Amino acid sequence: MKEIKLSTHHHHIKTKVYFVTDSELIDIFSDMQYTIIVDRTVMELHPSIFAQFADRLVVIEPEHKKDIRMFTEVCEQLISHKVKKNFHLIGVGGGLISDLVGFVASVYMRGVSVSFVPTTVLGMVDASIGGKNALNFGTIKNIVGTIHHPENVYLHLNFLKTLPHSEFMSGMAEVAKTAFLFDYELVHDTLLFLNKFNINAINIMKLTTIITESITHKMAIVNNDVYDNSERNLLNFGHTIGHLLELEYGLMHGFAVAQGMVLETQLAMILELTDGSVYNRVRRILGKYFLTDMQDFDLKKIIDKIVYDKKANGDTILLPVIDDIGSSHLYEVKLVEFYRLINARPPKLPPEPEPELTD
Ligand SMILES: NC(=O)c1ccc[n+]([C@@H]2O[C@H](COP(=O)([O-])OP(=O)(O)OC[C@H]3O[C@@H](n4cnc5c(N)ncnc54)[C@H](O)[C@@H]3O)[C@@H](O)[C@H]2O)c1
Repeated sequence: MKEIKLSTHHHHIKTKVYFVTDSELIDIFSDMQYTIIVDRTVMELHPSIFAQFADRLVVIEPEHKKDIRMFTEVCEQLISHKVKKNFHLIGVGGGLISDLVGFVASVYMRGVSVSFVPTTVLGMVDASIGGKNALNFGTIKNIVGTIHHPENVYLHLNFLKTLPHSEFMSGMAEVAKTAFLFDYELVHDTLLFLNKFNINAINIMKLTTIITESITHKMAIVNNDVYDNSERNLLNFGHTIGHLLELEYGLMHGFAVAQGMVLETQLAMILELTDGSVYNRVRRILGKYFLTDMQDFDLKKIIDKIVYDKKANGDTILLPVIDDIGSSHLYEVKLVEFYRLINARPPKLPPEPEPELTD
């Protein structure tokens, strides 16, 4: 197994991240004290891995919601499988599975150890990293949750070959987010990868590099601020508005966040926290791959709901601001400032072409 070498400053979090092959994964699953909790779609699409463990699997229906009812079902299954405190849970699937299994692991018998095998891009670069988990409650997304770090994250890029194209791109939007925040070169590599992207012939080597870089950035930030008091808020870029668009218009997570990144950068520009040229580049890059045609969002309706954001402190929120492609800072803005987006028409993009991309 090839471990991603995370920097030695990372003392707080002990999570190890590995790239694995089919046979390495099967070896891991063969440990009888491991309870495998898997997304049904993933299980059915990859029978060569899962069929042999059929009698030990806890299977989750992916169309179900990540809510208390589902939590109850998983606990019932763990009890009927006689899962003890010294057992280890392994969640196999996208962010729905890592959030659900991470939450269950943090409270079942007052906490059992957990690892993840993320099978979506979003799961690999984001949801399985950083220890946060959450359930939706009522109509509010991710409002109940804990922080419980996985012991190991096993990445097997083969899973991505069965991922629908839209899911793939939605996950890549989170990669773009990390790149805008921290890493100019990663923006370049990601664009190069997407320019030549073909879901039937994924360039695994390039994708391995992109995923490794994204995870390394996220881990570094999380290690400095496990409980979200300061710089971890940078990772929220695009999410304050993105979450609301996702809920209101049913956009996929990554596409909603992409739209959120554009609008939040526009706000930063209006507040003179960043330059118009940065906004133009963010919008141009995201526009090419991630923005939907739905330009006529009812922004007032969205912004009215910002007060419910759990990241808001009273009447302010930390807004991630892109200073330049690949560097960023947090700025505390009043929630009411978001209303300034409503009457601001999206500025016209100058005709400047994107610079040539080279390998
Ligand atoms: N805790 C965190 O830090 C964090 C971060 C980001 C997102 N999330 C959460 O993650 C969830 C979204 O994650 P997601 O986008 O991975 O969604 P998901 O887990 O719902 O998966 C998306 C769809 O892809 C299917 N699927 C998964 N892997 C597949 C594969 N290899 N081949 C074919 N189909 C496959 C699933 O069955 C599902 O239909 C949300 O609930 C979000 O709140 C959590």
